[in-house]
Order: sequence, then C-alpha cells, then structure tokens
Amino acid sequence: MKGHPVAYSRSVITELMVPSYTNFGGKVHGGTLMSLMDKLAYVCASKHAGNYCVTVSVDNVQFLRPVEVGEVVSLMGSVNYVGKKSLVVGIKVVAENLQEGASKHTNTCYFTMVAKDADGSTAEVPPLILESEEDVRRFCSALQRRRIREEGVAFMKDYKSAFTDHYAVADLLSDERCVLSISDALGS
Ligand SMILES: CC(C)(COP(=O)(O)OP(=O)(O)OC[C@H]1O[C@@H](n2cnc3c(N)ncnc32)[C@H](O)[C@@H]1OP(=O)(O)O)[C@@H](O)C(=O)NCCC(=O)NCCS
Repeated sequence: MKGHPVAYSRSVITELMVPSYTNFGGKVHGGTLMSLMDKLAYVCASKHAGNYCVTVSVDNVQFLRPVEVGEVVSLMGSVNYVGKKSLVVGIKVVAENLQEGASKHTNTCYFTMVAKDADGSTAEVPPLILESEEDVRRFCSALQRRRIREEGVAFMKDYKSAFTDHYAVADLLSDERCVLSISDALGS
C-alpha cells in the first residue's frame, strides 16, 4: 500500500465565532469547538486513508483559555500517527482577536480515527511518510500515548476485577472529600 506524507492531508479550518455559539457566560461553547475539531479530524483522516473514517476516541481535550465572540478560530490538523486501521490526528486551536491582532493558543488535542471501507468493515490505512524531525517526534509521541492508553486500560480492568478483594478502600479514600456511609467499609 502506497504511503502519503503528512503534508498530503494537512488541513485548516478557520471560522468566525458568532453570538449563536456562546454559552450562558457569553463565551464560546466547548462543544462548538469540539464539533469543529471533529470535522477537521475527519477531513485529515479521510484524506490520508482514502476512505470514510469514524472518531473512536479523543485525548487531551482541555480548554486552556476562553474564546470570545468576534474572535477568529483557526484549527490546524495533521495526521501524526498511523496504525493498521487507526490514525491519530493532532489538532492545534488558535483564536485571534482581529482588532488587536493578538492570537492565543487555546487547545491541542488528539483524535483517534478508524477507517472503514464501503461495506462498513474496518479498513487498513496507508503508511505515513515522515519527512521532518517534527513528523518523527509527533509519530513517536502518539505511539507513547497509545502505549500509555493500553496500559491504562489493562490496569483499570485488573483494578475493577480485584476491587473488593485486593484494595483497602477506606485507606485509599482516607484523604479524599467523601464520606464512607456503609456499614462494612470494603477492604478495611
Ligand atoms: C471504531 C470501531 C470500528 C473499532 O472497532 P473494533 O472492533 O475495536 O476494531 P478493531 O479491534 O479492528 O480496532 C481497529 C483499530 O481501532 C483502534 N481502537 C479500538 N478502540 C479504540 C479506542 N477506544 N481508542 C483508541 N483506539 C481504538 C484499535 O487499536 C485498532 O487500531 P490499529 O488497527 O491501528 O491497531 C468501533 O468501536 C466503532 O464503530 N465505534 C463507533 C465509532 C463512531 O460511530 N464514532 C462516531 C461518534 S458517535
């Protein structure tokens, strides 16, 4: 299968933040930004895969700074990593105040997308051609995030299956802001 360089599917969405996008506090809804990010992830992933793609998970969603009405939001996306049937699209979000000419970085997050063929079965994706040190760094970082996620899933599976037997719940919760209001504190 012929690979594509990162530049092949790199994409940008730019959108003016209008009043209908705001929450009750007058700032742009986090969900509005999530929707734009999801669209951009789809564009990058489908372009690289040459197939329809679905969103399977999103890592590192943080809203570091509020976005105001009237600001122009630019989302820059590129495929950072390719597995067998999945791709990771990294997205950087920047908001600009046009009058002041000031830009702020509001979020960087990572969408994992899975390619599907015309029958709806998961489909293999082309390799990613890494042409710069930045491409290699992003690919390696995505690989490490994938490893951490897989270790986290395995840890929680083990933790949940052993919960009542192996963990001293009262001890674990002793410094937490909760009150154990059951007669038999688990594992204590
Ligand atoms: C995405 C989906 C097809 C994966 O199904 P699956 O049976 O787990 O598929 P596979 O086991 O063949 O895994 C395919 C790839 O997805 C990855 N994957 C599966 N679950 C994942 C998760 N929770 N997080 C990240 N990657 C995941 C696998 O690691 C694998 O990657 P690889 O091929 O690069 O190694 C299935 O979960 C699905 O259809 N989800 C709904 C997606 C959707 O509708 N999204 C829109 C939002 S509602």
